[in-house]
Amino acid sequence: MYYGADYYPEHWPEERWAQDAQMMREAGFNVVRMAEFAWTRMEPREGEFNFGWLDDAIALMAEHGIESVLGTPTAAPPAWIMDAYPEAALVTEDGRVMTYGSRRNYCPSSGVYRVHSQRIVAAMAEHYADNPHVIAWQIDNEFGGRCYCADCQAGFQQWLRERYGTLDAMNAAWGTEFWSHIYTAWEQVPLPWEATRLHNPSLALNYRRFMSDTYADYQRLQIEILRELAPDQPISHNLMGFGYPNLDYFDLAADLDFVTWDNYPRFMGTPNLSNRGLAHDTMRGLKNKPFWVMEQQGGPTGNAVVNATPRPGEIPFWAWQAIAHGADGIVFFRWRTARFGAEEYWHGILDHHGIPSRRYREVKEMGEALERIGDKLDGSRVAGDVAMLLSYDSRFAFQNQPHNPHLDYPDIFQRLYRSVWERNLGTQIVSPEAELDGFELVIAPMLYVMDEEIAQRLRDYVRNGGTLVVTCRTGVTDMDNGIVDAKLPGLLAEMCGVTVEEYDSLDDGRTVALKGAGELAHAGGAGLAWADVLALEGAEVLARYDADYYAGEPAITVNRYGAGRAVYVGTVPDSDMAGALLGWLAETTGVESAIQAPAGVEVTERVSDEGRFLFLLNGTAQEQVVDLGEGGEERTRGESVSGEIKLEPLGVRVVQRA
Ligand code: GAL
Repeated sequence: MYYGADYYPEHWPEERWAQDAQMMREAGFNVVRMAEFAWTRMEPREGEFNFGWLDDAIALMAEHGIESVLGTPTAAPPAWIMDAYPEAALVTEDGRVMTYGSRRNYCPSSGVYRVHSQRIVAAMAEHYADNPHVIAWQIDNEFGGRCYCADCQAGFQQWLRERYGTLDAMNAAWGTEFWSHIYTAWEQVPLPWEATRLHNPSLALNYRRFMSDTYADYQRLQIEILRELAPDQPISHNLMGFGYPNLDYFDLAADLDFVTWDNYPRFMGTPNLSNRGLAHDTMRGLKNKPFWVMEQQGGPTGNAVVNATPRPGEIPFWAWQAIAHGADGIVFFRWRTARFGAEEYWHGILDHHGIPSRRYREVKEMGEALERIGDKLDGSRVAGDVAMLLSYDSRFAFQNQPHNPHLDYPDIFQRLYRSVWERNLGTQIVSPEAELDGFELVIAPMLYVMDEEIAQRLRDYVRNGGTLVVTCRTGVTDMDNGIVDAKLPGLLAEMCGVTVEEYDSLDDGRTVALKGAGELAHAGGAGLAWADVLALEGAEVLARYDADYYAGEPAITVNRYGAGRAVYVGTVPDSDMAGALLGWLAETTGVESAIQAPAGVEVTERVSDEGRFLFLLNGTAQEQVVDLGEGGEERTRGESVSGEIKLEPLGVRVVQRA
């Protein structure tokens, strides 16, 4: 397990570094991430490199038993590059060229920026490849943003040419007959200005794919250099969890050795533990392997506005939650709060003055518990029989056509996840290309963009005995984002045993009462955002609408198909109905929590050859009693436990059982 902080030696007098390293060591740290924003310090002038300060910092850390992850510094270009090459600047949708300052102000397509990036990455790789204390690389920092410059437009046109081969094929796939948009040369294809103009949805989806691919491509440029020059050091990038909408993280992660991400639960609002759980599960799911949190909130967040301080116990609790969901590394952002710069109010573990206080003590206590656990969690995987299918294509398509302000792809995903999470059912987040064999239950919210291959995989899964849940807005478009020529849910209609007769967009935020039926006769609740009016083609009814002109019509159904079942949810179920549905699904599929715990106590399990590690996290403000039944070894404290144990508010236990 790696435990540490993001450290910026360049922000502090060198005389202070040893004291920092000493305090880190005392807190149980064994890793720091450094250098990801230090380009100008490493290369003050083109081709003139200065790594001495970083060598010293790495060596000093190593003397204290602390290894280093180095960031490539490309997220924040030096002024001397952007001044000499203004064409490397990112252009916003409204055509404004980003001024210098801030960060993420470069265009990922820019040829000249790529050349500069290659030079600094190669110099770092050459310099550090053989340094045994550099244990990994982070590429850039939090990729994201879209660019609308001329290079991106030309890049997009080339990307389309590769995707479609001929203009005729593209015109046909996009339906450019509409509004006479038939393209007769690739150079005519624009970048969409969605904020102000309506565009062809095929153009819009493909532009999003292109931009996502462009970041993956830019990342690959750096990866190739590192793999060649520093082949023994694994490579990562710090992603932004489930919440970040603009990159296909499955693609971005495919080229990395491991995924890391940045977790700020108390940033502008109160923490939502279920959403955090989803974010962790998503980051683990990208490569189906353990991940790190490269930036774990270590103090109050803040830019222009200063946000609330993490309550006592929250910082370690959030870090434990990450470990419970499969993190093998926790790196706090940041060690000490900067005394200057855009983030002088984004607090670290230490405040501006650098004197340890409550947050340091909490982090140190966690470090002691981790030392007691030692290497026991190494190689363990998070258990889970439920899969949720995350489609970035669908998510991108809704960004261009959200349907209404209440039908939000991430929101419905988070709602359904919450119902699973509340039952402590281990969940894996998978892509539409994933193999589904072995999962007891698969939930695919709003799988809007679909082709025969995806549909076939889902049908096979159900035919072979799986239980699949799909929702409204499933199978609506093909891969070009044109609407299918069939009754919805299109390619899945036969399997679902229903068709959508018509739909009602609940655009003003009104809700529709739902009444359970059949196996869910006891249930009630409401449908939000959208209402499909369903015609039964063999399915049984699980809930009906109880309002509006479709009162009495089916809203949720289940259909037997092969050896399995397909559930169609024609609306966005509120928490009551989603809870009842998930309860029934858990019962009928036999999926259950590792142990029964009171509401608000999160339970996960990490499993390895060493045994099963039960994580219990009391996310409530009250003491909770959990009946462990069979006993085991509690590893954070190092004691034997069995039967009923008490968990203080924000208390965490890790119990190893056979
Ligand atoms: C992250 C970013 C860090 C730092 C932090 C606090 O998103 O990766 O560099 O900016 O937020 O704002």
